[in-house]
Amino acid sequence: MERARRLENLTSAIFAEIDLLKAKVAKTGKEIINLGIGSPDQPPAKHVQEALLKGVQNLNNYGYPTSRGLSLLRETITHWYKKRFGVSLDPEKETLVLMGSQDGLGHLPLGYLDEGDIALVPDPGYPVYAAGVRLAGGKIYPMPLLKENAFLPDLQAIPEEVARQAKMMILNYPNNPVAAVANYDFFRSVVEFAKKYDILVCHDVAYSELAFDGYKPMSFLEIPGAKDIGVEFHSVSKTYNMAGCRLGFVVGNAEAIDTLACIKSNIDYGVFLPVQEAGIAALTGPQDIVRQNVENYRRRRDLLIEGLAKIGWYVDKPLATMFVWASLPADYTSSVQFARQLLEKTGVVVVPGIAFGGQGEGYVRIALVQEEEIIAKAVQLIGENFKF
Ligand SMILES: Cc1ncc(COP(=O)(O)O)c(C=O)c1O
Repeated sequence: MERARRLENLTSAIFAEIDLLKAKVAKTGKEIINLGIGSPDQPPAKHVQEALLKGVQNLNNYGYPTSRGLSLLRETITHWYKKRFGVSLDPEKETLVLMGSQDGLGHLPLGYLDEGDIALVPDPGYPVYAAGVRLAGGKIYPMPLLKENAFLPDLQAIPEEVARQAKMMILNYPNNPVAAVANYDFFRSVVEFAKKYDILVCHDVAYSELAFDGYKPMSFLEIPGAKDIGVEFHSVSKTYNMAGCRLGFVVGNAEAIDTLACIKSNIDYGVFLPVQEAGIAALTGPQDIVRQNVENYRRRRDLLIEGLAKIGWYVDKPLATMFVWASLPADYTSSVQFARQLLEKTGVVVVPGIAFGGQGEGYVRIALVQEEEIIAKAVQLIGENFKF
C-alpha cells in the first residue's frame, strides 16, 4: 500500500533516532535522565482529580458531547480571559473547546489553505505548526527566529510578494523551543502586518502561565483590532499538569472559530465530558498548583543554568516556559551529534535543535521535567564527560 505524498516530511526522523538510541542506551543498564519531551512530571491538583472522578461516576456523561464544548466551560474560559488578560470574549461565537491545543493547531490550516497556499511558520517551531500546514497541502514560508532579533520573526524581512500570498501566520510566545517572550510592540506590529496583507494570525500561548521573575506574558488579543485577524490557542496541559487529559481551547476571531468548529464537527464529537468538567475545576478552583509549578520550574531552571555555568557551559536564562534553549558547547556544530554523544556518555536525553527546523541548528532544547536532584545529577554527569 502506498502512503499519500502529503505524509512525506511529516515527522522528524530525528525524534525517532533519539528514541531508538535512548532504548539502546537503556538496554546497557545506564540510567536515562529524560529531559527530552515537555510533558509535566507532576499530577493535577486534588480538586481537579476529584472533579474528573465525579464526572466519570456521572452516568449522564457517557453520551456524545457537543463538538463546540460545554457551555459552562466556554463561559468559564471567557471569565478566565477577562480576569487574566482583560480581554472580552463572546462564549458562543469566540470560544471553542479542543482536544488539546494541538488539535486546533493541526486542523485549522485545513480551513484556510488550499493546495500550495503559503503559511508563515516560525523556524524553529513546535512541530505541529509545520505538520498542520503540510497536511492541508499548504506551503511553508519559514520565519527565522534568530538570537540577534530576540528570537522574534523579522516581519520586514518577509518579501512583499510572499506577504501578499500568505494566508496564515503562526506565532508562539512564550516560545517552545526557544523559550523567548514577546511584548506589546511586537504584537502590535503583527496586527498591523496581518491587517495590511489579510493574514489570519494563530497565536499559540500554551505557556502563558509558566513565567518567572515577575514576568507576566500577555495575550495577543490585548492589542486593539487583534480579534479582527486572529485567534489564540490555549492549553490546560502545562498550566494544570493535565497533558494526558487532552483539553485546550481556542478564542478570538468568530469566523476562524466557526471554520475550525466546522472542520472538527466533521471529524470528532468533542472532549469527554468529565475532562471538560475537570477543566472547569482547574480554571475556577484554587490556583496554588500554578504557583507551585512556576516555583518548581524556576528552581529547576536556576539549578540547571547555574550548574551548567559552573562547568563552563553558559546558557541564557529564560523568562518563561519549561524549557532551556542551550547553544552548543564550542567544539560542536551539529545538534544531533551533540545530543547523541550526550545520551551515549551520560544517559541524558535532550532534543537536538534541528528537530524543530533548520534555524534550530546549533542548539539543544532541555526540558525541566525532572526533580531537582535528577537535574543536579545530569549536570554532574555532563561536567564529568564534557569539556567546555
Ligand atoms: C508550544 C506548544 N503548543 C502546543 C502544545 C500542545 O499542547 P496540548 O497538550 O494542549 O495539545 C505544546 C505541547 O508541548 C507546546 O509546547
